[in-house]
Amino acid sequence: MARDVARRLARWAFDDLGLARVRWAAYVGNTASRKVAESAGFVIEGTARQGLVQRGVRRDAWLGSMLPADLARAEAGGSAHVRKIQGWPTEPVQLRSDRLLLRPSRGDDAPALLAYAQDPLAGIWDPEETPDLDAARDRARRRADWSSGDIAVWVIADPADTAIWGGIQIFDVDAPSLCAVTGYGLMPEARGSGYAAEALRTVTAWAFTETSLHRIALMHAVGNAASCAVATASGYQLEGVMRQSHRFGDGELHDNHLHARLRTDPAPSTAADGAWS
Ligand SMILES: CC(C)(COP(=O)(O)OP(=O)(O)OC[C@H]1O[C@@H](n2cnc3c(N)ncnc32)[C@H](O)[C@@H]1OP(=O)(O)O)[C@@H](O)C(=O)NCCC(=O)NCCS
Repeated sequence: MARDVARRLARWAFDDLGLARVRWAAYVGNTASRKVAESAGFVIEGTARQGLVQRGVRRDAWLGSMLPADLARAEAGGSAHVRKIQGWPTEPVQLRSDRLLLRPSRGDDAPALLAYAQDPLAGIWDPEETPDLDAARDRARRRADWSSGDIAVWVIADPADTAIWGGIQIFDVDAPSLCAVTGYGLMPEARGSGYAAEALRTVTAWAFTETSLHRIALMHAVGNAASCAVATASGYQLEGVMRQSHRFGDGELHDNHLHARLRTDPAPSTAADGAWS
């Protein structure tokens, strides 16, 4: 019903008013409104941070638009979207492995995010624009928003969720090619125990079991030996060197290793492999 009304209004806007584009917005989390908009033919374009005001409070907003071609496709029964990754979540998913809890980001993670951004090693290999606590809060809130369908971000915590050990994400999800990219980092006090590899094996096993993702790539500077060891221990094969492909936190262009794991690759043989709940 709401879908049909939205389509008729859009048809009137295009045909009678001569408009070229109709915009749509809703507060982040209003999934029902988003579903109506998508089925009417709107294409979601992203999240406008604090883009709408509700009762005097600024809130994040989903934005979308419809062009005449989108409406024509929707009216013809087609989808306005490229193929989706089957099973890919738009709401956060929590995972567990032997020694880790991988949970969604929360606002009270901000101090840990700020501490990570100030760590010298992270500042070189995984630099983040997080100058103060407000920026960290903003990042924590954005990391909890998986609604774009092209990113999943987990906080790496101890099983009782009393300490934050790091973070890991799968991002740049490319639906037509069933590809994505992964990256991770640990707080200094959590390094040296193999937690990054355990987290990587866990999210990889989840992605290849619960979604139709086919390939996950991983890039790190050739000089980042710890990251190379994490990739190798997690079954991400080295595919080559990308020469001077990324500027890191030291301001220099570095050669990068390209690693990747395919869903058809053999899983690395460790106790923690694929163990999530
Ligand atoms: C990369 C990172 C997550 C690895 O953390 P970790 O799981 O604690 O890694 P560990 O210290 O247990 O080491 C993992 C492996 O690297 C090896 N390693 C660690 N530091 C090394 C170094 N400087 N040189 C060579 N090997 C090293 C360890 O021996 C270990 O190998 P093993 O599994 O064969 O025993 C962590 O160093 C980090 O957070 N770095 C800053 C952010 C970052 O670089 N992120 C990745 C961006 S691509």
